[in-house]
Amino acid sequence: MSTAGYDQGFWDRYFRYYDALEQFEPYREMLDLVARLCEPARGVRILDVGAGTGNLLSRLRAAGATAVALDANDRGLARAASKGPSVPCIRATLDSPLPIRPASFERVTAVNVLYTLSPAAAERCLREVRRVLRPGGRFVFVTPVEGAKPQMVYVESVRRWWREQGPIGAARRMARVIVPTVAILAYNERIRRQGDQGAFRFFREVELREELVRAGFEVGEIGRTYANQAWIGSAVSR
Ligand SMILES: C[S@@+](CC[C@H](N)C(=O)[O-])C[C@H]1O[C@@H](n2cnc3c(N)ncnc32)[C@H](O)[C@@H]1O
Repeated sequence: MSTAGYDQGFWDRYFRYYDALEQFEPYREMLDLVARLCEPARGVRILDVGAGTGNLLSRLRAAGATAVALDANDRGLARAASKGPSVPCIRATLDSPLPIRPASFERVTAVNVLYTLSPAAAERCLREVRRVLRPGGRFVFVTPVEGAKPQMVYVESVRRWWREQGPIGAARRMARVIVPTVAILAYNERIRRQGDQGAFRFFREVELREELVRAGFEVGEIGRTYANQAWIGSAVSR
């Protein structure tokens, strides 16, 4: 597998802390919403591209779907596989054709992944997503908005903890997650800076819609999630 353009070391380091995100309501709520948009039921086959450590996959499998993780990162896939019995994993890069037969899945999901791809790779990836979806299949996506401020995920959580548990309760919750939070914020800051230099890509809604249409999708409503910092929507393969 060629991983040209994929920064293995960066994601390896990020994954040491990544699952701490499950402590934060905007992340949990975003994944719950994606899972609902997939309508996962027994027998529904779902491919999660850029599955990371498998947090969405756990939700889809808990709802009875046959969910498969695809990612270029062994560390992430190993963690995804540790979260359930026989989690099917495909190690592959989204920069090349997917090693999957056409029309294999009823749904494909991509949560906070498209922004990591170059414009050319994103275009190819969307065409590949369409190819592996059955006709009429659904693509559910989340990707950061232009000018996204990822720290708002933490700010929003702390506000809620404060409202619900008062200052002492909020301070206790913060103390429990302070180390991974600082690490994740540092990684996010690096993503933001590299985004300004063109390494990561933050879409305007109209761009996202146009790229999906060009790849052969009929796009539904696009809204916001993840403390308002990301687009969320679904598109049907025409
Ligand atoms: C921000 S994480 C999101 C993980 C997961 N979807 C979630 O929301 O919890 C981005 C994921 O995309 C994967 N990724 C980035 N570029 C990729 C590429 N070119 N091919 C395959 N996976 C890629 C990374 O390894 C990482 O797991």
